[in-house]
Amino acid sequence: MITKKPEDEIKFRELLKNPARLFGWIFPLFLMLILAAGIFFVKNLDTISFNGQPVGLVDSTQLKKEVELKKGGVSAAVDLNLVKNPTPAFISKGKELFTANCKSCHGDNGMGDGPAGAALVKKPRNFHAADGWTNGRNIDQMFKTLKEGIIKNGMAAYEYIPAADRFAIISFIRTLAQFPPVTDDQLKSLDAAYNLSAGTVLPNNIPVVLAKQKLVQESVTSNDQFLRFENKINTSAETPESLLFRKSVFDLKKVFTSFVNSNAAGGADKYIADVLSNPLNSGFKPAVARCSKEEWKKIIDYIKTALM
Ligand code: HEC
Repeated sequence: MITKKPEDEIKFRELLKNPARLFGWIFPLFLMLILAAGIFFVKNLDTISFNGQPVGLVDSTQLKKEVELKKGGVSAAVDLNLVKNPTPAFISKGKELFTANCKSCHGDNGMGDGPAGAALVKKPRNFHAADGWTNGRNIDQMFKTLKEGIIKNGMAAYEYIPAADRFAIISFIRTLAQFPPVTDDQLKSLDAAYNLSAGTVLPNNIPVVLAKQKLVQESVTSNDQFLRFENKINTSAETPESLLFRKSVFDLKKVFTSFVNSNAAGGADKYIADVLSNPLNSGFKPAVARCSKEEWKKIIDYIKTALM
């Protein structure tokens, strides 16, 4: 009887000389593939069995665009005379801005042949061609284009460029080709529509995230302040002032808030008027309406010392 001993180790060199023997490995390989496919199937049972596809679309209600932090103010008024009769300096400023903002699409000479415009479906406007303008070539129409953009066709809005600078750009564009003259009527309607000669009021902007942080910070500090205030009131000695105060108050927290808020703005008279217009809202009992001037002075002095 021949007893075959198992080999100590696999001799790969020998194996390569006789590749047919490798055929035996196909079975464990199949086993592994089937196993892998099985695991994949089980893990993705939901999608596979319903023949569905995982959702790849972004939920547009979840898209957020944050406001940038910006100080408001009044942007300079536009000199409409300069718009009508642009000086060389005005035009060269417009040229600079055009090079920085518009050249990439509209090209050096405004032929609409800039490299960034090549990929757009709707080609950037060739300023030398008189026909086919979406908004139009009059100065008021071009101003509208720069303010609002023609978003659907790939022309962005340039509202962030100050109005006067937008006119400088337009004045430069108007030197590139023949354009209809600027009329007083157009300027008048522009002024009426955009308040140009009065300057544009730009509001302050604060990102929502930052605003939230500030609100939380403020409420934390004011809560600390309130606790100190409450403590002082509760531990203060019984004086005529403190008795009068306790008798008049119905919600200490509201008194604190209304006093701190109004004290910053107006004086004692303003505060009293505010309280009397609606005592409960300010944390006082309606009976404070009967307090005399002297009593009010006592109440306010008492609040002030408690706040110190
Ligand atoms: C991203 C490329 C791009 C940039 C940058 C760009 N534009 Fe345009 N612009 C376009 C496209 C595209 C059109 C064509 C829109 C259409 O035909 O409705 C266009 C059209 C215009 C028009 C003509 C609108 C009309 O009535 O047909 C004006 C004027 C204009 N652009 C001015 C500017 C100025 C000024 C700047 C720079 C401040 C600028 N564009 C920057 C792509 C661009």
